[in-house]
Amino acid sequence: MISRAAALLLLAFSRMPLTAEVRDLKAFFQERCAVCHGPDGSGRGANGARLGGRNLAEARWLAKQEESELVAAILKGRGAMPGFRRQLSEAEARRLLVEIIRPLATRKRS
Ligand code: HEC
Repeated sequence: MISRAAALLLLAFSRMPLTAEVRDLKAFFQERCAVCHGPDGSGRGANGARLGGRNLAEARWLAKQEESELVAAILKGRGAMPGFRRQLSEAEARRLLVEIIRPLATRKRS
């Protein structure tokens, strides 16, 4: 039997931002999202061509969005975008948004 204290400790650890997991979500973005949103989230590929996904790196747009709406869009899909609820838990979708997508928007771009 796992003690209550151990369970709480496990819970605390599972909520810590582990670098390995962040790296995995980064890889997930590059593998599953970059095909439409670009490696930098701009919606453009290496040659500047539009890929079809919206520009997620537009800070002014991003700042106006409800986090829960974006998480729902990632999980359920929106418009031409497929949903990812079979690949991501709600917590992972939220972390993808907060830890991977948001930093793309705050990075200074030319
Ligand atoms: C097949 C292309 C495609 C893929 C793959 C894709 N997207 Fe999208 N995404 C889109 C398009 C197109 C939109 C604009 C949808 C609309 O508003 O009609 C969009 C919109 C979004 C939005 C904004 C939703 C909103 O409420 O306006 C977010 C956030 C997003 N995508 C995140 C992701 C993430 C994270 C992944 C990878 C897990 C991903 N997308 C994969 C095409 C794609």
